[in-house]
This record gives sequence, C-alpha cells and structure tokens, in this order.
Amino acid sequence: MAKEKILLTGGTGYIGSHTAVELIQAGYDVEILDNLYNSKASVLDQIEAITGVKPKFYDVDLRDAEMLDEVFAKNDFSTVIHFAGLKAVGESVEKPLTYYENNIGGTINLLECMEAHSVNRIIFSSSATVYGDQTSPLDETMSTGNGITNPYGRTKFMIEEILKDVCVANPKFSATILRYFNPVGAHPSGLIGEDPNGRPNNLMPIIMRVAQGKIPELSIYGNDYNTPDGTCRRDYIHVVDLAKGHVAALKHMDGDAKVQVYNLGTGKPTSVLEMVKAFSKASGKPLPHKIVGRRAGDLAEIYTNPKKAETELEWRAELGIEDMMNDTLRYLEHQND
Ligand code: NAD
Ligand code: UFG
Repeated sequence: MAKEKILLTGGTGYIGSHTAVELIQAGYDVEILDNLYNSKASVLDQIEAITGVKPKFYDVDLRDAEMLDEVFAKNDFSTVIHFAGLKAVGESVEKPLTYYENNIGGTINLLECMEAHSVNRIIFSSSATVYGDQTSPLDETMSTGNGITNPYGRTKFMIEEILKDVCVANPKFSATILRYFNPVGAHPSGLIGEDPNGRPNNLMPIIMRVAQGKIPELSIYGNDYNTPDGTCRRDYIHVVDLAKGHVAALKHMDGDAKVQVYNLGTGKPTSVLEMVKAFSKASGKPLPHKIVGRRAGDLAEIYTNPKKAETELEWRAELGIEDMMNDTLRYLEHQND
C-alpha cells in the first residue's frame, strides 16, 4: 500500500524538522516546502542521517501562488502540516505588515491551493499566545484573541479564525489547531536542533549563545514576579515530544468537517533561574547571567492544562528539563564539530 503523503510547510525549520523525523519513523511519506528564510537546506541531510530517508524538498515561498500550485499539481497530499511563518515577537512589533503579509498572506495562498487541489486536512502551528493575558493553567475552553500584545500573536489568532471559517464554508475541510507552549531541546542524535538566523530572542537560543561564548551573559528579565523564585515560569516542552504530538494529531484526524484544538505542553512550569541551573548542571559549567528589568509584555506564568491532548490524542510529554538540556548540549557539540 502506498504511504500517506504529508506536506510540511516550514519543514526545514526547528519544529518542522523534528516532526519530519517522527513522521518518517511512523511510516509516513514526508515532503517539505520552505523558502529557507530561517533554516538551511542541509537540515535535509541531517533528517536523512537520522531516518535513512531524505524528504523531497521544494524551495518555494508560500506567497508565490504559481509555484505553490505546481507543487500541489504534481502530488497527492493527504494533509498539510503548516509550520511556515515568521515568529520573532519583537520584530513583528517593528514590521507588522511584513508579519501579516507573510503569515496571513502565505496561509491564504496555501488554503486556496489546497482547496483547488482538494487537499482537505490541515494541522496548524498556533501558540499559547492566543490566550492573551489569562491566568494559567490555560485550557482549550478559554477565550482567545484578547490581550495579545504583538502582531505575531495576532497572526496566530487570525489564522485560527480563518481556519474555522474555511471549515464552515467547506464541509469536506478539517483543521487541527495545535497551540504550542515553549518548545526547547534538540533531537537526541544532536543532528538537528534550533539554529535561528540572526540574533535570537528566546531563552534557550540565548543560553546556547552564552554557552558558546558568542553572548557574554544571559540577562534575566526580572526577579520580582509573584513566582517561587521571582523569575517568570514557562511550560518548556521538549521538541521531540512536541513533534510526536503532531503524529498523534494526524492519526486522530478524520474526514469530518470540524476544527479541533489542542494545547501541547507539559503542564509543569519551570522558572528562568531553574532553566539556568539545569543548563549549568548538564554542562558542568556555570552559565554567566545577571538580573535586569522586566521585559515588556511578559507574564509571570504561562502553562497548560494538558488533559485534553492526553485524553483525546492519547499523547503526553514524556521528556523532562534534564533531557532538554542534555540534547541541546549534544546539538551544540555537533555544531562545533
Ligand atoms: P522556524 O523559523 O525554525 O521554522 C519556520 C520555517 O518557515 C522556517 O524554516 C522559514 O524559513 C519558513 N518560512 C517562513 N515564511 C515562509 C514562507 N512565506 N514560505 C515558505 N517558508 C517560510 O520556526 P519554528 O520554531 O520551527 O516554528 C514553526 C511554527 O511554530 C511557526 O509557525 C511558529 O510561529 C510556531 N510556533 C513556534 C513556537 C516556538 O517557540 N518555536 C511557539 C509557538 C508557535
Ligand atoms: N527570558 C529572559 N532572558 C532572555 C530571554 C528570555 O529572562 O534573554 C525569559 C523571558 O522573560 C521569559 C522566558 O525567558 O520569562 C521565556 O522567554 P521566551 O522569549 O523564550 O519565550 P516566551 O514565553 O516569552 O514566548 C514564547 C514564544 C512566543 C509565543 C509565546 C507563547 O517565543 O512565540 O511563547 O506563550 F508566542
């Protein structure tokens, strides 16, 4: 029997590449489309080194409707997993139109193309940011769209709404929205991991740069929050667990027209200071850091109630902070090779 063929947009990126590995290992035929804006084509060789399979790759920008159409005309995809997008919160405040054009424009092109070629299933990479400033634990019954502080977050909310509208209009279409918490870590092989182009903004990529000596020290944004040690707490999820969550979501999708929404996180918050300590312990070296003022827009705590994904997808995060640190270090060692 022919394998089910899945298209990953943004599949050479951080989460997409780990998901490609898990899908291939679960027996799917994976093809990747990416414009390589924030990733490298060499990731494809690393996926091959891990799985023995090099996914077919299309160097295509989602905003290029003609090229996108060519990809769909040649293939019979059962499902698209839509990772492609710009994701730097600060940059989105400076360049809102770039974010709306790329993330929303790109998604609309993709949905039009899917409709034209009768590809009726999509899994979308959303974010806990759609819950705005509500108090954690966050669950899927809570409202979305209020209190989002930046255009990046608003593109996630708007795309969720677009997907819901498309599901109403097209009875054959179904969408699974996955709201990620804070993905960190790397594949245990150390062959793929997070390697953002340009100056990173997120905690783990900055910790990695500090460990490499490329940034002198980590600035911890505030230690006067109402949390046990005063630093912010987040729901860090190992990227391999997150990738497996996509396989579970894919298996759970059926042909019915409906929208399904799942939070993907561990449900266990960890503070910035605890992350620093865990990294130092794993590396055997202290990580230079200092406390600075709060970062605008940060909430004290963001974590999920993981029950819905556990019950319906039969998926739960298995890996802990120690695994996240050890795998990140293995990835760093490979980068230094
Ligand atoms: P990433 O930047 O590593 O991967 C995204 C990929 O999309 C990149 O390879 C980039 O080149 C590609 N891309 C961007 N615009 C494109 C376009 N117009 N056409 C084709 N390719 C394009 O990011 P990631 O961390 O792997 O995130 C994947 C998805 O998950 C994104 O949608 C992101 O917003 C979402 N997400 C990420 C996080 C996180 O903390 N990493 C949290 C919540 C949600
Ligand atoms: N932090 C520091 N110093 C740094 C960077 C981060 O102390 O140099 C702290 C932040 O204050 C925060 C924690 O580390 O408490 C995590 O920060 P990140 O920037 O890594 O992640 P956020 O939780 O702020 O944001 C992430 C994603 C967003 C997404 C959001 C949803 O980056 O895309 O989760 O909750 F929208």
